[in-house]
This record gives sequence, structure tokens and C-alpha cells, in this order.
Amino acid sequence: MTLLSLLYVSRSTIDAALAETVVADIVETAGRVNLALELTGALIFTGAHFAQILEGPTGAVDTLMTSIAADTRHRNILIVDRLPVQSRSFDQWSMAYFGRVRFVERHITDLIETPSSSDRSHSSKLLRKLMHEFSVQHVPALRGA
Ligand SMILES: Cc1cc2nc3c(=O)[nH]c(=O)nc-3n(C[C@H](O)[C@H](O)[C@H](O)COP(=O)(O)O)c2cc1C
Repeated sequence: MTLLSLLYVSRSTIDAALAETVVADIVETAGRVNLALELTGALIFTGAHFAQILEGPTGAVDTLMTSIAADTRHRNILIVDRLPVQSRSFDQWSMAYFGRVRFVERHITDLIETPSSSDRSHSSKLLRKLMHEFSVQHVPALRGA
């Protein structure tokens, strides 16, 4: 079955003092809802921005994306790419989250500041690769738990 993998970036509107709690709440909801919708993916929070990959059946990805886009905990949502894929990159995760990761901030800003979608492909590939590497590093620890 062909699946859709969608990558977006956005700017957080969350007050810094509340960030840990608010993001933990998002991750908890995502874990629960995504499992029910057969969606998998990964979320990065830098403190200023989010990057998220959602993968699964096209209809489920698009429906969830509509509700995520309406969420006031972030704004300036930029859908970086929507790719048909044959298999999932995050099949172990309903929503992988690895705590606050600051060093990807530069890659996210590059994407936001690049007006033409075709020019974003280098940064989007890099960001996808980094997010996948994070998940691969974290899975063995969880499996061993
Ligand atoms: C950056 C960000 C990422 C989110 N990711 C997900 C997600 O992967 N799955 C999910 O169910 N909700 C996610 N949410 C929460 C949704 O926007 C929404 O609050 C949730 O789906 C409940 O929607 P409802 O109130 O319309 O039922 C995310 C919110 C934000 C701000």
C-alpha cells in the first residue's frame, strides 16, 4: 500500500516557562490518537520551532494535519513536502519525541527562509535524515526496557 509521509515546520507560540508541560501534553495526545489512526512519525521541538513527520494512509495524514494546522500552540505552518512512500521510516513510533533538540534549529530556519519549494529539497532531506537517525538511536534503549 502506498503511504504518505508529510514533513512540516512551524513556529511555537508556547510560553517558554510552560514548554515542557505543553509539549509533553502534545506528545501524549499524539501517541494515543496516532496509534488509533495507524499513523507513525516523529516530532522535534527546538524551543522556538517544531518539525514533524507524519506518515500513514493519505486520508489519515491529511485529516490530522488539518487539526494540527488549526492548533494555536504553533503558527506559520509550512508544509515542506508530501511524499508517497512504500514503507514507514518510524514504524516503531506512534510519535517519536526525543526531548528538546536545539541544533536542528538552523535547518528549520533554512527551510522557513527559502521561498521556493524546489530549493528546500536539500534542507528537507537533511532534516528527514536527522529525525530518522534520532529514532534509530532511541529504539534499542526502549526495546531493552
Ligand atoms: C506541533 C504539534 C504537533 C502535534 N502533533 C499531533 C499528532 O501527531 N497527533 C495528534 O493527535 N495531535 C497532535 N497535535 C495536537 C493536535 O493539534 C490536536 O490538539 C489534537 O489532535 C486534538 O484535536 P481535537 O481537539 O480537534 O480533537 C499536535 C499539536 C502541535 C502543536
